[in-house]
Amino acid sequence: MLPLPVSHPQQRFFYDKVAIRDGRILSALRSRARITNLGLLLLFSLAFFSLMLNVNVWIDTTPGLPKSILSTLSGDTTAENIDHLIVVPGHAIWNGASAENRLNESLWTLEPYQRNSGRIQAFYQHIAHASKLSLQDKHSLVVFSGGQTRRETTTTEAESYMRLAMQANLLPHDFIRATTENYALDSHQNLLFSIARFHEYTGAYPVRITVVGYEMKRKRFADLHRVAVRWAEHRFEYIGIDSDDLQENDIAQEGEMKTYMETSNDMYHCHSQLLQKRKNRNHHRRYHPYHTSSPELSELIEWCPVEGSMLYNGMLPWIE
Ligand SMILES: *[C@@H]1O[C@H](CO)[C@@H](O)[C@H](O)[C@H]1NC(C)=O
Repeated sequence: MLPLPVSHPQQRFFYDKVAIRDGRILSALRSRARITNLGLLLLFSLAFFSLMLNVNVWIDTTPGLPKSILSTLSGDTTAENIDHLIVVPGHAIWNGASAENRLNESLWTLEPYQRNSGRIQAFYQHIAHASKLSLQDKHSLVVFSGGQTRRETTTTEAESYMRLAMQANLLPHDFIRATTENYALDSHQNLLFSIARFHEYTGAYPVRITVVGYEMKRKRFADLHRVAVRWAEHRFEYIGIDSDDLQENDIAQEGEMKTYMETSNDMYHCHSQLLQKRKNRNHHRRYHPYHTSSPELSELIEWCPVEGSMLYNGMLPWIE
């Protein structure tokens, strides 16, 4: 049925009726009313109850850990005095079972350029040196960092490094001040994600950071990756150990110079080549939990300026 024209008498009558009724409602609303103290009390307690319910819902939905996750975490206080993060960036994946064969290349998943290069020896030295440091400093946590970066393996760089450290008795088997960071896809993430993992593990952010890696990457870590996360220079140390193979080091150095240039133009690795590297390493489509466990780092993790060298300028837990 078509709607009636506005001029239709019945319609006008309807509007008139509403207008009259409105007038009455208005005057009814404005007239004084009597209410017993009991009535008032009931109304107030209803309002109070409703307010509390709202506050409760609001607290439950503020960002942070969902209850189902939080309820599985014990309030372990052994991590309380830990404030020194030792990072070991991973470079490959060890598939061996016995540390005696740690220098057998066929037990490592390596990139072609990593073969016959003395690099495995350097990886092992990174692991050994960081383990030694962590045993010396009771306030440290060593974080082996690196994701499942190769298609043909079932494990992560980090897990394999830590397993090797334990197999080689570099760390006691019940050692609690060592853990893995299983998601980093490059050096920038090795640093940033290890800080997030430190927070996930200890409940606090580190005060000092030591990175144990290739000497040839010192400049990149100290001048670029550290600066990108705005970590203070005086709280940062880099310990560099290269392969003994000098010829190999020259070749690696060339590659490093190229990556240094790329990084200085794309500090957060979120454009072209550096982003492509991350994609190429993420065959297993994994992603990290740090938005959940360190929501205060979310903005930094997502920071991707059009001008790639522009530094993150938002809030950070370690900037006073
Ligand atoms: C290295 O490991 C492979 C695979 O287990 C084995 O066949 C080979 O004999 C090992 N090489 C040496 C020198 O131990």
